[in-house]
Amino acid sequence: MPFKRLTLLWLTGAVALSAAVAQGAHGKALPTGESSLSLELSDQTATQSSGKMPTRSPVNIKLFYPTQGVDPDLPWIMMMNGANCYGQDYTYLLRQLASKGYLTVAPTQFHPAPPMQDGKDFFKDQADHCDKDSFVIITASLVNDVHNLLKTLSSSDSQRLLPIPQIQLDAMDALKNVDSDSIVLVAHSAGGVTAVDMLTGKCEEKGEAEQVCGNYTTITDRKGRNALKGAVAFEGYGASGVQIPDGMFLTYMAGQYNDQAEEKFNTTKGDCIQYVELAAGNHYAITDWNPDTAPHQKAPCAANISHDDPNFKTTESEQEERIDFIASYTDAVVRATVLNDQTAASYLLHDVPNSHLVRKAKVSSKCVVASLHDESKQIAHKPEQQSVTQV
Ligand SMILES: *[C@@H]1O[C@H](CO)[C@@H](O)[C@H](O)[C@H]1NC(C)=O
Ligand SMILES: *[C@@H]1O[C@H](CO)[C@@H](O)[C@H](O)[C@H]1NC(C)=O
Ligand SMILES: *[C@@H]1O[C@H](CO)[C@@H](O)[C@H](O)[C@H]1NC(C)=O
Repeated sequence: MPFKRLTLLWLTGAVALSAAVAQGAHGKALPTGESSLSLELSDQTATQSSGKMPTRSPVNIKLFYPTQGVDPDLPWIMMMNGANCYGQDYTYLLRQLASKGYLTVAPTQFHPAPPMQDGKDFFKDQADHCDKDSFVIITASLVNDVHNLLKTLSSSDSQRLLPIPQIQLDAMDALKNVDSDSIVLVAHSAGGVTAVDMLTGKCEEKGEAEQVCGNYTTITDRKGRNALKGAVAFEGYGASGVQIPDGMFLTYMAGQYNDQAEEKFNTTKGDCIQYVELAAGNHYAITDWNPDTAPHQKAPCAANISHDDPNFKTTESEQEERIDFIASYTDAVVRATVLNDQTAASYLLHDVPNSHLVRKAKVSSKCVVASLHDESKQIAHKPEQQSVTQV
């Protein structure tokens, strides 16, 4: 019964396994592997296309994982990409996270070339030579589809339930211990709108936000708890004044030109809501792109963001240092909240606000109180939110 939907789902396509060693900032990065699959959508609302174009199935998804096997205590991470950004625009970040033990999943373009319609390159945007139809705009229900896939891959009966000759055996091996029922979202821009609606429960309200949510249904673990543990949303947000359920974390992260993320932070209610503003970086600071490869640090087919400084400059190494930080922060907030890891809690409370990469940080001891044991007395008399502003 749990695998019923999988009868509608098939996998094809090439698997490219490329071993890469991510350059971790903290030394002990695990070697990582990558695998691409083609996922036939069981839910036709799993993606939306820019404009009014219909959903395309299958969607290519790319998996990043430590070759020695994912850490079964960690949630897996779904990358919710921004509008007109490819899943592979976040490769550096996704490799960093994989090198820390995570399985990370990103949807990539689903048409290698623009489809022809009536003999014309129907979807190609002549102005900027970007193939608009090749971007996956995720709706929440794509997470349902990927969850179903991972549930099958991690099942002892996976070969019988879903013979996947295309997936390499060593990839199967590295993924077999993934806890499919524990999920964290890393989101950028438009992906952040979806991520926040998933956390708040807005996606399950009938008739709500279909464009954003599709036919998303809450994913629960064996104990009936919500499988979603939280989200790190980079310059992406839903409505103001939302309430995040107890036991979930939400971090609004932003580059140096953005005010909205802080405004959303100020009005969001919940147990563990945090805000981190990077000392440098614009709307695309979470992507691989920097001015050496794309003018003004912008994913090539994405929009200019009006609040960004068009003359923003950064170098490739500074860009990588920022993404290393985003990966370390994400890892820490996950370990502190999901695993009650004390070292991670201490990193969040002490190292993050003092990092030279951080302009402003609002970190909350409420997020990590269970991990702090001895330290909890010490911070009890401090304000709940520590705020450090560096110029
Ligand atoms: C998803 O939602 C749409 C629109 O609400 C509906 O027409 C469709 O039947 C649903 N699909 C599935 C698989 O439930
Ligand atoms: C958020 O709240 C803080 C503290 O009240 C305030 O200083 C800051 O200006 C607010 N930010 C925004 C963008 O509203
Ligand atoms: C985006 O901004 C850059 C820098 O100001 C400019 O050169 C470019 O023409 C802009 N592109 C669009 C589509 O507005």
